[in-house]
Amino acid sequence: MNLKEEINRLHREKHAVILAHYYQEGDIQDLADFVGDSLALAQWASRCDADILVMCGVHFMGETAKILCPDKKVLVPDLTAGCSLADSCPPDRFADFVKAHPGHTVISYVNTSAAVKALTDVVVTSGNARRIVESFPADEPIIFGPDRNLGAYINAVTGRKMLLWDGACHVHEQFSAEKIAALKAAHPDAEVLVHPECRSEVVRLADVVGSTAVLLKHAVKSACRRFIVATEAGILHEMRKQCPDKEFIPAPPATGPHACNECDFMRRNTLEKLYACLRDESPAIEVDPDTAARAVRPIERMLELSARLGL
Ligand code: 13P
Ligand code: SF4
Repeated sequence: MNLKEEINRLHREKHAVILAHYYQEGDIQDLADFVGDSLALAQWASRCDADILVMCGVHFMGETAKILCPDKKVLVPDLTAGCSLADSCPPDRFADFVKAHPGHTVISYVNTSAAVKALTDVVVTSGNARRIVESFPADEPIIFGPDRNLGAYINAVTGRKMLLWDGACHVHEQFSAEKIAALKAAHPDAEVLVHPECRSEVVRLADVVGSTAVLLKHAVKSACRRFIVATEAGILHEMRKQCPDKEFIPAPPATGPHACNECDFMRRNTLEKLYACLRDESPAIEVDPDTAARAVRPIERMLELSARLGL
């Protein structure tokens, strides 16, 4: 069986829409109707009029789409595709943290469970976090969770003093500032592109800090011919596709038993699972209706603010 042909056939016959994050394997990105960062995927899901939406990404992305489109069938090829960052913020502990700091606006990264979003005033992604934080008065007391690196970066560039939840992504924490500095010394003409989930010593080496979509856009428009890329290696597929004459060097992680610049959760989705998921219309994401009713407000607020800010 030709898996790609079969996926295309089922995709057409069922009028399904396939969305893929930039961290998916290249073959999945190529089959998708739309490939984007977390913000674009949420924006796309909110506008989608198909009955079946296949989210080729991780669980929280499927959950966000389901919360925005409760009447649609939202499928994720492998429901066990989780996220270490979302897992670093258990809802009961986050609820205690929020309760311990009354009077704070709660801003949560989209990489969270629906239950954490339900405790949140406004959701953000790496593509809009800075601008959304800046849309609040400078003295607004803010709790920001769960990514301590993204939160510290926003505090540094905005001068805010947001209270940070102590969570992180296991992939972005792995990048080694020493190895990136050595690569830069070997290729002084290269620009260093860094995702803000990386540690501050890596962010300090960056020419550009931004979401996957921001880094891609910069690579396309830059006059530079060579880039060192410190984020999950899946983004290199689209970078190389859009800029075939430029060179993209994946930033190396520190050595160690778990050293890898690929997200093992993202890579749980495969062509075989995408095919089976379209064929069986399963596994589908379900969200507890009470949780969804509370989580939808901060997600919609993010979409409204993003539209107002032109993002
Ligand atoms: P963006 O899609 O906002 O670049 O975030 C990357 C990420 O880690 C998604 O899980
Ligand atoms: Fe989560 Fe990190 Fe994987 Fe993104 S790369 S899905 S933040 S574990």
